[in-house]
Amino acid sequence: MAELYKLLRAILCLSGSLIVFHALNHNRRTEVLPQESIGIHARQIQNLVTFGDSFTDPSIQSHLGKQTWPVYATGYTNTSLFQFAKGGGVCSTELIPIPFPNVSVVEAQIRNYLEFASTYKLDMEESLFTLWIGTNDLGSLGLLIGKVTEPGISVVDTTVCAVNWVEIMYNHGARNFLFQQLATPQSYSNLYWAGSRNTTEWNLMMHELSSAAKSLSTLMLQNLAHRLPGAHIGVFDSFGLFLDMFNDPKNYFNGTAPLNVTFPIRSCVCHLDSDEVICTEVESEHERDSYMWWDELHPSEQAQRIVAKEIAEVIDTGFNKWSKWLT
Ligand SMILES: *[C@@H]1O[C@H](CO)[C@@H](O)[C@H](O)[C@H]1NC(C)=O
Ligand SMILES: *[C@@H]1O[C@H](CO)[C@@H](O)[C@H](O)[C@H]1NC(C)=O
Ligand SMILES: *[C@@H]1O[C@H](CO)[C@@H](O)[C@H](O)[C@H]1NC(C)=O
Ligand SMILES: *[C@@H]1O[C@H](CO)[C@@H](O)[C@H](O)[C@H]1NC(C)=O
Ligand SMILES: *[C@@H]1O[C@H](CO)[C@@H](O)[C@H](O)[C@H]1NC(C)=O
Repeated sequence: MAELYKLLRAILCLSGSLIVFHALNHNRRTEVLPQESIGIHARQIQNLVTFGDSFTDPSIQSHLGKQTWPVYATGYTNTSLFQFAKGGGVCSTELIPIPFPNVSVVEAQIRNYLEFASTYKLDMEESLFTLWIGTNDLGSLGLLIGKVTEPGISVVDTTVCAVNWVEIMYNHGARNFLFQQLATPQSYSNLYWAGSRNTTEWNLMMHELSSAAKSLSTLMLQNLAHRLPGAHIGVFDSFGLFLDMFNDPKNYFNGTAPLNVTFPIRSCVCHLDSDEVICTEVESEHERDSYMWWDELHPSEQAQRIVAKEIAEVIDTGFNKWSKWLT
């Protein structure tokens, strides 16, 4: 157990990408036109098949005493969950050389899926495949500090990689996709980074990277969509949803403490280049639902429920204000 906790902490400590959330007013909501030929229809989806990192992986989160969105979303919609996301995951270790084995989307998660699919046949019409990846690629495991496998690798490559997941899964039979855009985390001095840094610069850099990733991936997916007949590809605007939670917390958070979108439930102070970390935690379950963040990187459980609620609406009705079907 102690070993597990150490490993978990190592993963978490290394997986941080720290930025202060910008209250920028550029929240362009996606408008969805109800057209029968695009997207999925109500009650079509019975299976949710998830890929990604700790934002999605329930096994990491449940060690922290909380649940991730897929568990809630499948609960809300009475659908089955097939979970392949891994905490600490990046898109590919060929781009970002993470120190953890068997967590990246391309090298591990897809392989695990194919192993599963060799014995278990999902009905592809009834299955929605999701991917929420990139926070670790962009953050302090990767691009933010120049940790790349070869000089020149950039957000363009990590975005190409994430978009390629759609084509790879399509070639393995998947037809319905929801591509979850990055939600940029907030930041302050915390558990995930004990080295020196200029927080303002990290903040600006993460904002640049995640905005670029969002626009690039949408354009790349639009381009890809034409080449995949019979595919339904949706983009889920997590970026916009998280910005709206930040700007308008009263619409989302319902705990008994004053609403708080800047400080996390679990707040840690690291000392420069030392292992010592001092953390405090909001104990009351009822107060926790007032917070947007669990720690400086991970959404709170209530934020996870909100993601779940929005994605459950996509599953139940085919439409949702944060989701846009490209095809
Ligand atoms: C949930 O789904 C299962 C299996 O598809 C079904 O047996 C059960 O009746 C459903 N429950 C509800 C509350 O719809
Ligand atoms: C990674 O996964 C492969 C294939 O499932 C397995 O053989 C290997 O032992 C795993 N490595 C670690 C360190 O868990
Ligand atoms: C941090 O970076 C910002 C933006 O480049 C700069 O204005 C500020 O002076 C820097 N702070 C320190 C302490 O270097
Ligand atoms: C959020 O929590 C922090 C730490 O407890 C506190 O300093 C801050 O004032 C809180 N903000 C609001 C808006 O309550
Ligand atoms: C807040 O709302 C969620 C549903 O979104 C509910 O599960 C939770 O119990 C609520 N929290 C409180 C403290 O009422």
